Amino acid sequence: MNAIIKNIKNRRSIRRYKTKQILDSELMSILEAGRYAPSGGNNQTTHLIVIQKQEVLEELKKLVEQAFSQMILEDGMYKSLQASIKASIKGGYDFSYNAPTLVVVANQKDYGNAMADSACVLENMMLAASSLNVASCWINQLHWLDENAAIKGYMQELGLLENETICGGLSLGYADGEPSLPIKRVGNPVTFIK
Ligand SMILES: Cc1cc2nc3c(=O)[nH]c(=O)nc-3n(C[C@H](O)[C@H](O)[C@H](O)COP(=O)(O)O)c2cc1C
Repeated sequence: MNAIIKNIKNRRSIRRYKTKQILDSELMSILEAGRYAPSGGNNQTTHLIVIQKQEVLEELKKLVEQAFSQMILEDGMYKSLQASIKASIKGGYDFSYNAPTLVVVANQKDYGNAMADSACVLENMMLAASSLNVASCWINQLHWLDENAAIKGYMQELGLLENETICGGLSLGYADGEPSLPIKRVGNPVTFIK
Protein backbone atom coordinates (compact mmCIF):
# COMPACT_ATOMS: atom_id res chain seq x y z
CA MET A 1 0.00 0.00 0.00
CA ASN A 2 1.49 3.40 -0.85
CA ALA A 3 2.13 5.97 1.90
CA ILE A 4 -0.83 8.22 1.02
CA ILE A 5 -3.39 5.42 1.02
CA LYS A 6 -1.90 4.04 4.25
CA ASN A 7 -2.23 7.50 5.85
CA ILE A 8 -5.87 7.76 4.69
CA LYS A 9 -6.69 4.35 6.15
CA ASN A 10 -4.88 4.92 9.47
CA ARG A 11 -6.23 8.41 10.28
CA ARG A 12 -8.46 8.48 13.35
CA SER A 13 -10.60 11.14 15.02
CA ILE A 14 -8.86 11.84 18.33
CA ARG A 15 -10.76 13.09 21.36
CA ARG A 16 -8.04 13.21 24.06
CA TYR A 17 -5.26 15.77 23.77
CA LYS A 18 -2.11 16.72 25.67
CA THR A 19 -1.95 20.38 26.74
CA LYS A 20 1.35 20.87 24.85
CA GLN A 21 0.86 23.07 21.78
CA ILE A 22 1.78 21.74 18.32
CA LEU A 23 4.79 23.25 16.56
CA ASP A 24 4.19 26.28 14.34
CA SER A 25 5.92 24.37 11.51
CA GLU A 26 3.35 21.56 11.88
CA LEU A 27 0.46 24.03 12.04
CA MET A 28 1.65 25.86 8.91
CA SER A 29 2.04 22.58 6.96
CA ILE A 30 -1.46 21.49 7.99
CA LEU A 31 -3.00 24.85 7.02
CA GLU A 32 -1.14 24.85 3.71
CA ALA A 33 -2.44 21.35 2.94
CA GLY A 34 -5.95 22.66 3.65
CA ARG A 35 -5.46 25.68 1.43
CA TYR A 36 -4.30 23.40 -1.40
CA ALA A 37 -7.64 21.59 -1.44
CA PRO A 38 -9.64 21.75 -4.65
CA SER A 39 -12.54 24.21 -4.74
CA GLY A 40 -15.54 24.57 -7.03
CA GLY A 41 -14.63 26.93 -9.87
CA ASN A 42 -11.26 27.33 -8.13
CA ASN A 43 -12.97 30.00 -6.02
CA GLN A 44 -10.80 29.44 -2.89
CA THR A 45 -13.30 31.13 -0.54
CA THR A 46 -12.70 28.90 2.51
CA HIS A 47 -11.56 31.02 5.46
CA LEU A 48 -9.55 29.39 8.25
CA ILE A 49 -9.58 31.04 11.67
CA VAL A 50 -6.88 29.49 13.84
CA ILE A 51 -7.42 29.80 17.59
CA GLN A 52 -4.58 28.97 19.96
CA LYS A 53 -5.19 31.58 22.67
CA GLN A 54 -6.36 29.71 25.75
CA GLU A 55 -8.69 32.48 26.97
CA VAL A 56 -10.45 32.55 23.58
CA LEU A 57 -10.85 28.76 23.59
CA GLU A 58 -12.29 29.03 27.11
CA GLU A 59 -14.73 31.77 26.07
CA LEU A 60 -15.94 29.74 23.08
CA LYS A 61 -16.33 26.69 25.29
CA LYS A 62 -18.48 28.76 27.68
CA LEU A 63 -20.63 30.22 24.86
CA VAL A 64 -21.14 26.79 23.26
CA GLU A 65 -22.15 25.24 26.58
CA GLN A 66 -24.58 28.10 27.25
CA ALA A 67 -26.14 27.76 23.80
CA PHE A 68 -26.64 24.00 23.98
CA SER A 69 -27.92 24.03 27.53
CA GLN A 70 -30.77 26.33 26.41
CA MET A 71 -31.87 23.89 23.69
CA ILE A 72 -34.74 21.46 24.13
CA LEU A 73 -34.05 17.78 23.50
CA GLU A 74 -36.40 16.40 20.86
CA ASP A 75 -37.13 12.89 19.66
CA GLY A 76 -35.37 12.08 16.41
CA MET A 77 -32.75 14.78 16.92
CA TYR A 78 -29.31 14.00 15.44
CA LYS A 79 -27.66 11.89 18.13
CA SER A 80 -24.43 13.90 18.34
CA LEU A 81 -26.51 17.06 18.82
CA GLN A 82 -28.43 15.32 21.59
CA ALA A 83 -25.12 14.35 23.21
CA SER A 84 -23.89 17.97 23.09
CA ILE A 85 -27.12 19.22 24.68
CA LYS A 86 -27.02 16.59 27.44
CA ALA A 87 -23.31 17.24 28.17
CA SER A 88 -23.94 21.01 28.30
CA ILE A 89 -26.88 20.66 30.69
CA LYS A 90 -24.66 18.50 32.91
CA GLY A 91 -21.88 21.15 32.74
CA GLY A 92 -18.17 21.11 31.97
CA TYR A 93 -18.68 20.38 28.27
CA ASP A 94 -15.70 21.05 26.01
CA PHE A 95 -16.81 20.69 22.42
CA SER A 96 -13.20 20.58 21.14
CA TYR A 97 -11.89 18.15 23.73
CA ASN A 98 -9.44 20.62 25.33
CA ALA A 99 -7.30 20.51 22.20
CA PRO A 100 -4.75 23.35 22.25
CA THR A 101 -5.62 24.42 18.67
CA LEU A 102 -9.01 24.89 17.04
CA VAL A 103 -9.32 25.79 13.37
CA VAL A 104 -12.72 27.25 12.53
CA VAL A 105 -13.59 26.70 8.87
CA ALA A 106 -15.87 29.30 7.32
CA ASN A 107 -17.12 29.97 3.85
CA GLN A 108 -19.43 32.33 2.04
CA LYS A 109 -23.11 32.35 3.08
CA ASP A 110 -25.58 31.11 0.50
CA TYR A 111 -22.77 29.75 -1.67
CA GLY A 112 -23.62 26.38 -3.20
CA ASN A 113 -20.12 24.94 -2.82
CA ALA A 114 -19.47 26.32 0.67
CA MET A 115 -19.85 23.01 2.48
CA ALA A 116 -18.16 20.86 -0.19
CA ASP A 117 -15.16 23.18 -0.47
CA SER A 118 -14.85 23.39 3.31
CA ALA A 119 -15.02 19.61 3.65
CA CYS A 120 -12.19 19.23 1.12
CA VAL A 121 -10.09 21.68 3.15
CA LEU A 122 -10.92 19.86 6.38
CA GLU A 123 -10.06 16.43 4.98
CA ASN A 124 -6.75 17.70 3.57
CA MET A 125 -5.91 19.14 7.00
CA MET A 126 -6.86 15.91 8.80
CA LEU A 127 -4.69 13.85 6.47
CA ALA A 128 -1.77 16.26 6.69
CA ALA A 129 -2.06 16.25 10.49
CA SER A 130 -2.13 12.47 10.64
CA SER A 131 0.96 12.25 8.38
CA LEU A 132 2.78 14.53 10.88
CA ASN A 133 1.59 12.56 13.95
CA VAL A 134 -0.64 15.47 14.96
CA ALA A 135 -4.03 14.34 16.23
CA SER A 136 -7.22 15.90 14.91
CA CYS A 137 -10.99 15.69 15.00
CA TRP A 138 -13.69 17.38 12.93
CA ILE A 139 -15.63 19.64 15.29
CA ASN A 140 -19.12 20.55 14.13
CA GLN A 141 -20.62 22.39 17.11
CA LEU A 142 -19.84 25.91 15.87
CA HIS A 143 -21.47 24.99 12.56
CA TRP A 144 -24.64 23.88 14.35
CA LEU A 145 -24.59 27.07 16.44
CA ASP A 146 -23.75 29.36 13.56
CA GLU A 147 -26.98 31.32 13.97
CA ASN A 148 -26.53 31.78 17.72
CA ALA A 149 -26.17 35.55 18.20
CA ALA A 150 -23.56 35.38 20.99
CA ILE A 151 -21.37 32.92 19.09
CA LYS A 152 -21.74 34.72 15.77
CA GLY A 153 -20.87 38.04 17.45
CA TYR A 154 -17.83 36.59 19.19
CA MET A 155 -16.64 34.82 16.04
CA GLN A 156 -17.01 38.10 14.13
CA GLU A 157 -14.77 39.74 16.73
CA LEU A 158 -12.26 36.99 15.96
CA GLY A 159 -12.34 37.63 12.21
CA LEU A 160 -15.41 35.87 10.80
CA LEU A 161 -16.77 38.14 8.06
CA GLU A 162 -20.41 39.32 7.83
CA ASN A 163 -20.89 37.35 4.61
CA GLU A 164 -19.43 34.13 6.02
CA THR A 165 -20.94 31.11 7.70
CA ILE A 166 -19.17 28.48 9.82
CA CYS A 167 -19.03 25.17 7.94
CA GLY A 168 -16.99 23.15 10.42
CA GLY A 169 -13.97 23.08 12.66
CA LEU A 170 -10.90 21.03 13.46
CA SER A 171 -9.23 20.34 16.77
CA LEU A 172 -5.48 19.82 16.59
CA GLY A 173 -2.96 18.68 19.18
CA TYR A 174 -0.89 15.74 20.30
CA ALA A 175 -2.87 12.63 21.17
CA ASP A 176 -3.06 11.79 24.84
CA GLY A 177 -2.80 8.02 24.59
CA GLU A 178 -2.39 5.60 21.73
CA PRO A 179 -4.87 6.08 18.87
CA SER A 180 -7.00 2.99 18.37
CA LEU A 181 -7.01 0.97 15.18
CA PRO A 182 -8.97 2.25 12.18
CA ILE A 183 -12.69 1.44 12.19
CA LYS A 184 -13.48 -1.08 9.48
CA ARG A 185 -15.83 0.51 6.93
CA VAL A 186 -18.95 -1.50 6.29
CA GLY A 187 -21.02 1.43 4.98
CA ASN A 188 -20.27 3.73 2.06
CA PRO A 189 -21.39 1.13 -0.50
CA VAL A 190 -19.94 0.98 -3.99
CA THR A 191 -21.91 -0.03 -7.08
CA PHE A 192 -19.85 -1.31 -10.00
CA ILE A 193 -21.05 -1.28 -13.56
CA LYS A 194 -18.33 -2.87 -15.67
C1 LIG B 1 -19.16 16.07 8.84
C2 LIG B 1 -18.52 15.50 10.09
C3 LIG B 1 -18.84 16.01 11.32
C4 LIG B 1 -18.24 15.50 12.47
N1 LIG B 1 -18.48 16.10 13.67
C5 LIG B 1 -17.85 15.67 14.76
C6 LIG B 1 -18.00 16.36 16.00
O1 LIG B 1 -18.64 17.40 16.09
N2 LIG B 1 -17.37 15.85 17.10
C7 LIG B 1 -16.63 14.70 17.04
O2 LIG B 1 -16.12 14.27 18.06
N3 LIG B 1 -16.44 14.04 15.86
C8 LIG B 1 -17.02 14.51 14.74
N4 LIG B 1 -16.80 13.88 13.54
C9 LIG B 1 -15.91 12.70 13.48
C10 LIG B 1 -16.68 11.39 13.26
O3 LIG B 1 -17.38 11.04 14.42
C11 LIG B 1 -15.67 10.31 12.85
O4 LIG B 1 -15.06 10.68 11.64
C12 LIG B 1 -16.30 8.94 12.69
O5 LIG B 1 -16.81 8.47 13.92
C13 LIG B 1 -15.30 7.91 12.16
O6 LIG B 1 -14.16 7.81 13.00
P1 LIG B 1 -12.69 8.07 12.46
O7 LIG B 1 -12.64 9.51 11.98
O8 LIG B 1 -11.79 7.85 13.63
O9 LIG B 1 -12.42 7.14 11.35
C14 LIG B 1 -17.35 14.40 12.37
C15 LIG B 1 -17.02 13.89 11.11
C16 LIG B 1 -17.57 14.45 9.99
C17 LIG B 1 -17.15 13.92 8.62
